[in-house]
Amino acid sequence: MEVKTSLLDNMIGVGDMVLLEPLSEESFIENLKKRFDHNEIYTYIGSVVISMNPYKSLSIYSAEKVEEYRNRNFYELSPHIYALADEAYRSLRHQDKDQCILITGESGAGKTEASKFVMSYVAAVCGKGQEVNKVKEQLLQSNPVLEAFGNAKTVRNDNSSRFGKYMDIEFDFKGDPLGGVISNYLLEKSRVVKQPRGERNFHIFYQLLSGASDDMLKKLKLDRDFSKYNYLSLDSATVNGLDDAASFRTVRNAMQIVGFMEDEVQSILELIAAVLKLGNIEFKPESRVNGFDESRVKDKNDLKEMCELLGIEQSVLERAFSFRTVEAKMEKVSTTLNVAQAYYARDALAKNLYSRLFTWLVNRINESIKAQTKTRKKVMGVLDIYGFEIFEDNSFEQFIINYCNEKLQQIFIELTLREEQEEYIREGIEWTNIEYFNNAIICDLIENNKNGILAMLDEECLRPGTVTDETFLDKLNTVCAEHQHFESRLSKNSKFLTDHSLPHNCFRIQHYAGKVLYRVEGFVDKNNDLLYRDLSQAMYKANHNLIKLLFPEGNPAKVNLKRPPTAGFQFRASVGTLMKNLLTKNPNYIRCIKPNDKKAAHIFTDSLVCHQVRYLGLMENVRVRRAGYAFRQAYEPCLERYKMLCKQTWPHWKGPAREGVEVLLSDLQVPAEEFAYGRSKIFIRNPRTLFFLEEKRRQCLEDLAALIQKIYRGWKCRTHFLLLKKSQVVVAAWYRRFAQQKKYQKIRCSALVVQSFIRGWKARKLLRELKHKKRCEEAVTTISAYWHGTQARWELRRLKKEAWNKHAVSVIWAAWLGTKARRELKRLKEEARRKHAIAVIWAYWLGLKVRREYRKFFRANAGKKIYDFTIQRIIQKYYLGLKKTMPSMSPIDKSWSTCPYGFLDGTHQELRRIFHLWRCKKYRSQFTEEKKATYEEKLAASELFKDKKALYPSSVSQPFKGDYVEITKNPKYQKLNSLVEDKVLLADVVSKINRANGKGTPRIFLLTKKCLVLADQKTGQVKASVPLPDLSSVFVSTQNDGFFALKLREGATSAAKGDYLLSSDRLIEIITKLYCTGAASAERNQIKIDISDEFLVQFKQDKVCVKFIQGTPKNSNSVSCKRKNNRLLEVSVPSP
Ligand SMILES: Nc1ncnc2c1ncn2[C@@H]1O[C@H](COP(=O)(O)OP(=O)(O)O)[C@@H](O)[C@H]1O
Ligand SMILES: [Mg+2]
Repeated sequence: MEVKTSLLDNMIGVGDMVLLEPLSEESFIENLKKRFDHNEIYTYIGSVVISMNPYKSLSIYSAEKVEEYRNRNFYELSPHIYALADEAYRSLRHQDKDQCILITGESGAGKTEASKFVMSYVAAVCGKGQEVNKVKEQLLQSNPVLEAFGNAKTVRNDNSSRFGKYMDIEFDFKGDPLGGVISNYLLEKSRVVKQPRGERNFHIFYQLLSGASDDMLKKLKLDRDFSKYNYLSLDSATVNGLDDAASFRTVRNAMQIVGFMEDEVQSILELIAAVLKLGNIEFKPESRVNGFDESRVKDKNDLKEMCELLGIEQSVLERAFSFRTVEAKMEKVSTTLNVAQAYYARDALAKNLYSRLFTWLVNRINESIKAQTKTRKKVMGVLDIYGFEIFEDNSFEQFIINYCNEKLQQIFIELTLREEQEEYIREGIEWTNIEYFNNAIICDLIENNKNGILAMLDEECLRPGTVTDETFLDKLNTVCAEHQHFESRLSKNSKFLTDHSLPHNCFRIQHYAGKVLYRVEGFVDKNNDLLYRDLSQAMYKANHNLIKLLFPEGNPAKVNLKRPPTAGFQFRASVGTLMKNLLTKNPNYIRCIKPNDKKAAHIFTDSLVCHQVRYLGLMENVRVRRAGYAFRQAYEPCLERYKMLCKQTWPHWKGPAREGVEVLLSDLQVPAEEFAYGRSKIFIRNPRTLFFLEEKRRQCLEDLAALIQKIYRGWKCRTHFLLLKKSQVVVAAWYRRFAQQKKYQKIRCSALVVQSFIRGWKARKLLRELKHKKRCEEAVTTISAYWHGTQARWELRRLKKEAWNKHAVSVIWAAWLGTKARRELKRLKEEARRKHAIAVIWAYWLGLKVRREYRKFFRANAGKKIYDFTIQRIIQKYYLGLKKTMPSMSPIDKSWSTCPYGFLDGTHQELRRIFHLWRCKKYRSQFTEEKKATYEEKLAASELFKDKKALYPSSVSQPFKGDYVEITKNPKYQKLNSLVEDKVLLADVVSKINRANGKGTPRIFLLTKKCLVLADQKTGQVKASVPLPDLSSVFVSTQNDGFFALKLREGATSAAKGDYLLSSDRLIEIITKLYCTGAASAERNQIKIDISDEFLVQFKQDKVCVKFIQGTPKNSNSVSCKRKNNRLLEVSVPSP
């Protein structure tokens, strides 16, 4: 939404002093105060902006405000610096006039801030785009860099610019910024070495020490502590609301944006560090023979570090602080420096170093921001120069600064007061002159080439002989004494003789802005700005690019004996160029006023403001404005601009322009007192009238635009319609053609179909006829073919008959020929056989003859040898064959190869026997004692039973374990075990056969070396014990059963119960063990083993026969024993 406030809407006090009623100094200041109290810091005097420093931040510089003021008429909105900036920018763009913005006021009145607002406004409203934005950014970012190096805290202003700055911003025809050029004026370099009480050195020193990283400080050989440096004043080292560390970062960032290389920044910081180090170098006197003192560096550490930083040879610099070489013509004279001179040289070096660095910085920035194109540029200059300064102690710098302000005031007077009034007279406008103070006389006092103060100073500096500040003052006293703005105690003007406020070594100038007392001390030195050549040569020798660049006069190759121009001269020249430059441009004024001396918001010191209003000539300004006309313009452009407001002048006025304007104004009924006709210009008294004209023009332009729009739209619609119509005709024609084409194609298609049908019918008819004709032709052909066939067959038959006859003849002939041939073959064969037989007989006869011959030799030697050799070969072959067919090492392996040669049969059998014995021996040699015993038992068993009892073969594979009931381990048989004295050889369960019924009862059978025992199986109770000598023989059958009878010796005690008939599956083992045990004891006879199928057993008194028969199939599975009668027990054994 557009905010629209007018200059007259909601106005606090009066926005434009021209409208102030009644006009007096009191009401003027009252109006300023009222507006100031309501934060209205800007007030107009016509097109001049008065700016009061609010000393607090106001919310009137936002982006919205920029938009609000953009492209608006100057008087349309409430006063603002943006309105002025916009006006300047627009007339630059639209009227192609170079502009300058002159910002004046005392130190601390807000000039620098104002210049920044103007620049930021212009940056915000001018063109956009990547390239343009970069230029803008560089232009804006040059500010922080220059402020860091050129601004310092003073008692008046915490961020006081200590140099004058004029910046030309260059634009292209569209109003897009292209670049800029900065000019700097006289940096207050004395500040580097000494600052007045309550003030600081340049910001950069403090920023570097607070903001640099520890690393960087170490590199620069610096200490963070300010108190370590003589050049830094300590009483106000920190400033409220100023964060030096943060500023340092901002400055570094800005340098980067502006385009400083990293090594350039490093060099700059090294120079800053070097200046600080330089301040710490101190000197002491050393007496010389000639009675003079010579200075020596006291503590060389700082000197050393400084030399390291800048790459200077220490001895060179040290010498430069002790000696001074003066060159005149061809002579070189070296004089020593005393301590005071050494200090002077040191400070001069520091000041020069710093100020040259500053100038280099400005040039370097210019290099970055300069416009890249050579096309014609429009320029907007912004001048922010140091304000008028009155300190307690004013020196050369203040003198120069105030001179510059005088000059600016001159421009203001020239352009706003004098020029304007002169113009009225020139144009023949009725005009009553307005008195104002013209400060040209003061400017003349200072800058006059003949007897101006600066000229006097230069003269004094260049004069041979002793020159001091006092001689300079004397000169002034004689030359300027008569001047009404010059005051001095010793001047001829006796009225100051008794003025005690004017000390002897001072002079006073009545500036336009007030009287200022200048102390003459230092004027000559500062104007001379002398740097001993030894020092500049030492600097030039430095191994540091930047330093070398800053002291070109140190180059020994370019020794220039001419004195460099004095500081005053240089300044006067540069101010002169500046003034010339400004005069070519359209000026826009911002006059800054300081409300109080305390830098405080809300305080309005009437007297202070009143003083500024007076010396700025603001009242006169208002008066001239009020008496005069706000706006003037030559008749031609005026008519050109407003001719559309009147029918007679629109669109063309034929007569002279002045008459056109007259017609125009009368037509618009502008009151006659609102304008006046000059000779070449129309003068409009009130801005509002101009505003009225502008508004009318705007409306009219809108109407005209609407008209143009209307006609254009009509034309556009009509051409569009005509185009449509034309197109329609073309479309219709094309469509008709298309439709006809379609119809034609359809008819053509139908005709083709009909035609094709008829042709088809005709063709079929023809086909049919042709087919008939063809069939007739075929029939004829067939018939003739048959006839030809029959004829051919007849012929064939005839020919065949003929051929048969011919064949028979040839067969007979062939047979006869065959017979002839066979006969011939037989004959040939007979002949061949005969020839062969003769050859064979001949060969035999020859062989016989050879053999007969040969035999004679053969019989004598070879026969026996061949025989021996053959036999040997055969035997050898036999052995090798035998080796291959060797049977395995198992003793039971019966295989043996058959003998291949009859005459070796005996050998073959013998070898088989030897081999068997050998492998048996091998086999036996692996046996343990235990196994050997077992095998011996097995051997005994085989001797006893092999081929004698049918049970034997099944026992061969069973191992003879001996103890089957585990007699020693089984607790049941513990008692039984204890009864037996000897080692148990065998323990097993056997069946004891009952003699009465032949049934078996289980008994434990125990055998030891001495006896055998039968015991109850369950209880282990001994039933019978038989000492082995009592056993005479054992009976067993030949069958496959386990029955055996133990026959006891008759008459033995154990035989009382008779013999025992037992049965066991392990019969073979039991009997073998019994037999072997019996055989082992030598004291008795061997136990006899009887094997037969019938034997007698003694049961108590009766003898019973036990008979074994082959069993019937009924009980074929098991052995059964039955008592047949008293004398017979029959054991039936299943047949195998
Ligand atoms: N428009 C403003 N708004 C807020 N503060 C301002 C304004 N103008 C000036 N100041 C304050 O006044 C101080 C001095 O202003 P400055 O422009 O540096 O003075 P000058 O350049 O005239 O010596 C600034 O540092 C700032 O604090
Ligand atoms: Mg400033």
